[in-house]
Amino acid sequence: MNNGELLALFKEKSVRIDAVMEADLAIVESPLLAQIIRHAIFQGGKRIRPLLTLLAASLVGDPPADTARLAISFEYLHAASLLHDDVIDHATLRRGAKTANTLWGMEPVILAGDYLHAHAMALASEVGGPTAMALIGRATAAMVESEFLQMHNAQEILISEEKYFQVLMGKTAALIAAACEAGIGHNQGTAEQRAALRTYGTNLGLAFQIVDDLLDYLGDPAKTGKAVGNDFQEGKMTLPLIKTLARAEAKDREVLVGLLKATPQERSGQQALAHTIIEKYQGFALARTQAESLLAEALAGLAIFGETPAKAPLAGLAHYVLSRDK
Ligand code: IPE
Ligand code: IPE
Ligand code: MG
Ligand code: MG
Repeated sequence: MNNGELLALFKEKSVRIDAVMEADLAIVESPLLAQIIRHAIFQGGKRIRPLLTLLAASLVGDPPADTARLAISFEYLHAASLLHDDVIDHATLRRGAKTANTLWGMEPVILAGDYLHAHAMALASEVGGPTAMALIGRATAAMVESEFLQMHNAQEILISEEKYFQVLMGKTAALIAAACEAGIGHNQGTAEQRAALRTYGTNLGLAFQIVDDLLDYLGDPAKTGKAVGNDFQEGKMTLPLIKTLARAEAKDREVLVGLLKATPQERSGQQALAHTIIEKYQGFALARTQAESLLAEALAGLAIFGETPAKAPLAGLAHYVLSRDK
């Protein structure tokens, strides 16, 4: 499958995912709730998680017709987590538009996130039974726990890579792995096949978040649709910074630590300086290399499936994650 064919396949599946969500969300009655949910769901979004559920299910044969309904529960949970995440991160821009918290304030947005979360759970249990329900519930618990860890790490400054990866496991990899495992499980995948998809999803999720953290420094806001430099401004310890702090000479490390102890406003004015120091110690390049090796591990997870053509889209999606600019 070449790149063009892959993109066409992802496009076709995303259109179907959107149509299923459109029909499903017709039950929301409150106008403000409906408005916030529409903003959270239909204002762009790459649909990576539901795509993974569909592609994972297809790996072991034609999936049951209701797989798309299971798939959208993962997009709902993702959208709920973004609504809450933008409140926590004080983010003003997402998918090229004002964030929901900027438009409607915190309270209705937190509630809308809760609604989407609850709806995701209900849907997953209806379609996928207790197995899917447990997967989505455990992923949610891991996400919340890692937000606490991230808050704790933000106060510590000199955190280890191990702690960074612990955050990534919970906040990104858990949901991506669950979306993959639920998909193959829904099509009667064996325990071994489920474990393989968990390995693929976990490593893909870790690589995905490293790339997101790189884009936060290096991305073009016109493409990512998010503000550049938000992580540094918020004092978030991500991989390029962690690698730099571990390698920098004392004087450069002191400059960075000084900035991390300053206020968000002060940091925001010193983005260029931080950038130069990270560049000097190859913090960006080293983070990228690590994302590449995680991607190789993700692909190795698919080895048990032999050379079936159904594997190509999952491999293609993994490569897309590394090369994406949005
Ligand atoms: C953003 O996820 C949040 C992270 C886990 C990094 P996506 O990059 O998948 O967000 P959308 O849905 O495509 O906007
Ligand atoms: C991912 O972290 C958020 C969740 C998994 C909920 P980020 O804070 O890096 O995500 P963005 O960059 O705001 O999309
Ligand atoms: Mg954020
Ligand atoms: Mg980010």
